[in-house]
Amino acid sequence: MEPPKLSTPEYSPGLADVPAAESAVSFIDGKRARLEYRGISTETLARESSFEETTWLLLKGELPTQKELADFDEQLRQHRKLPYRMVELLKSLPPDGHPMEALQASVAALGMFFPSRNVTDSASNWEAVLRLVASLPTLVAAFHRLRKGEEAINPRSDLDHAANFYYMLFEREPSPAIRKVLDACLILHAEHTMNASTFAARVTGSTLASPYSVICAAIGTLSGPLHGGANEEVLEMLDKIGPASNARAWLEQAVAKKAKIMGFGHRVYKVKDPRATVLQELAENVFAETSRPALYELAVELERVAAGILGPKGIYPNVDFYSGIVYQVAGHPARPVHADLRDRPRLRLAGALAGAAPE
Ligand code: COA
Repeated sequence: MEPPKLSTPEYSPGLADVPAAESAVSFIDGKRARLEYRGISTETLARESSFEETTWLLLKGELPTQKELADFDEQLRQHRKLPYRMVELLKSLPPDGHPMEALQASVAALGMFFPSRNVTDSASNWEAVLRLVASLPTLVAAFHRLRKGEEAINPRSDLDHAANFYYMLFEREPSPAIRKVLDACLILHAEHTMNASTFAARVTGSTLASPYSVICAAIGTLSGPLHGGANEEVLEMLDKIGPASNARAWLEQAVAKKAKIMGFGHRVYKVKDPRATVLQELAENVFAETSRPALYELAVELERVAAGILGPKGIYPNVDFYSGIVYQVAGHPARPVHADLRDRPRLRLAGALAGAAPE
């Protein structure tokens, strides 16, 4: 008797239109440019909330009372500092290594300093959440400084999350406009339904791996140029285009060659990403202090000409189109420490800092 023929199961490349889980945390309407966290639009949160308040909202499902927010804020401040040996470990990493790899390695190490392997223990999970949210900026800032041969700066408990992150990077406090735009960036990257890094995190979490391992998986996924790394690619692309008057000719040529235009297009949004719109609005407040950079003028012109060329296909700027420029203007490193670095270890950090990732 012949063995029964095995039929090839149907599959969908890229799991397109195959829902793997539902998100109660956020909601996207890709046609109406709407992103909500727990039912509240991210534009409202970016303009009116703080990273701390939004993080509580995402974690707990509703906005905190004043007391809950004050307690949570205090707990985060207490969890910012790194163990001394963590700083030593960061010192031993190659200075020209990729910061996302440094972040992934140091989060894994943090999980060894603060074991949290019993994921059925909610107190231990909460402790891990606090430490991860609070100390990721400390890890990022420490590696940024150590690789340049500078001392890591201890966190300050009198500053909020965004201002303290800036302070640890640059040893000075941000202006109110820069603090606000950085805080908004963290809010806008904090959550994005079932994007690639969240998916990776959930697969890892489903094995009952520790929260630190879960975030490591997410950071690795986020680091790719088609995900959180796109903002770096945008800066490189803009550098290549040159003056704004080149935008149309450059774009026409790139489209003819079927090149991917970085910072454009999205799996879900078929209109302009709402996060890009609110980022631009807040960036204008920073530019009022620093003047509008030529790179930004070029980006605006590229968006304008792309509306006629890529717009009809539903390809518009995503959050990464403007975020790299905003970080650069806010003083974040936008170029490698060593000019001969082959990869691009710079900006794909905001999502990881926020504990989740941009799509
Ligand atoms: N530039 C040029 N063409 C693009 C494009 C872009 N940025 N994004 C999508 N397209 C085109 C694709 O080439 C494809 O064309 P085709 O149908 O002729 O083959 C079509 O649009 C659909 O592309 P696809 O890759 O299936 O879209 P997607 O929805 O799966 O991909 C991204 C979404 C984000 C991966 C994609 O838009 C991209 O690579 N963008 C650039 C990287 C980026 O900015 N990432 C950050 C996302 S927040």
